[in-house]
Amino acid sequence: MRKIKKAIITAADFGVDFLPATKAMPKEMLPIVDTPVIQFVIEEALASGIEEILIISGKNKSTIGNHFDRNIHLEKMLSDKDDHEKLAILAKSDVPNIHYIRQAYPDGLGDAILHAESFVGDEPFVILLGDDIMPNEVPLTKTLMNLYEAYQKPVISMMKTGLEKLAQSGVVEVSNAIGETLFGISHVFEKAGSSVVSNDLGIIGRYVMTPDIFPKLHSLSAQGKPELQLTDAIEALNKEQDVLAYEYQGKRYDVGDKYGLLIANIELGMKHKETAQPLVEYLKELSKQLKQE
Ligand code: G1P
Repeated sequence: MRKIKKAIITAADFGVDFLPATKAMPKEMLPIVDTPVIQFVIEEALASGIEEILIISGKNKSTIGNHFDRNIHLEKMLSDKDDHEKLAILAKSDVPNIHYIRQAYPDGLGDAILHAESFVGDEPFVILLGDDIMPNEVPLTKTLMNLYEAYQKPVISMMKTGLEKLAQSGVVEVSNAIGETLFGISHVFEKAGSSVVSNDLGIIGRYVMTPDIFPKLHSLSAQGKPELQLTDAIEALNKEQDVLAYEYQGKRYDVGDKYGLLIANIELGMKHKETAQPLVEYLKELSKQLKQE
């Protein structure tokens, strides 16, 4: 059995929902309190035991590479001031061994994943979407990796999102229950809404795949549809071999849109040692005002 060591992180999206902030800056670099979104994703991969990371990036994304590189000038300045706290913060974003490849045009998640084919080789791998954050004591990526090791099958993650949200995500029609939170899959559909499924389980941004997904992506790509969807390739794969679906019940922030990013900033700001107290006081005051309105 091959151990999972590699992760693909997708970060090629133009991020139009955040214009004008994302005109020249990657949306993955937008901060949650003081930490760029993509750093949470990288930290999850590393905490799960991932050893090699490929970021699928695109236009205007070079600051992502700079962020995970060392900044010797800044280090020197902080070290001259004996600012060990800030030096420790800086060190958390020094992540060597990240590889980068550019997707010329964001042509769907499936097309982004195809860019990772030679990086992956013949090994199983994880996919982490760069705009989905899952703060959880046991990282969701780790849970999926454990399930892969136990069942030797690709595993996707899903969660109850509420029917109204299904039109914006991939959806899963589950079949048999294998465990309390682990299921077989009848079908997966990309952004098809609630009419096609009998549950409200939306696909979320963590997957364990094997290289068997690539032939499926290639054959879909040859059909020349406008966007190549990973979900469609998973549907094709599941017809030949079982793909499992794990129901995540932890916290998730979909920071791919304004509302999700705001919620993440508020909730994680309520936990941050510098902002927790004033923010909670402010929110209490605000909620009193809102009740009076
Ligand atoms: C992508 C996937 C979708 C999944 C979602 C999770 O969509 O295509 O299946 O449900 O991520 O965030 P996107 O959000 O890129 O439109």
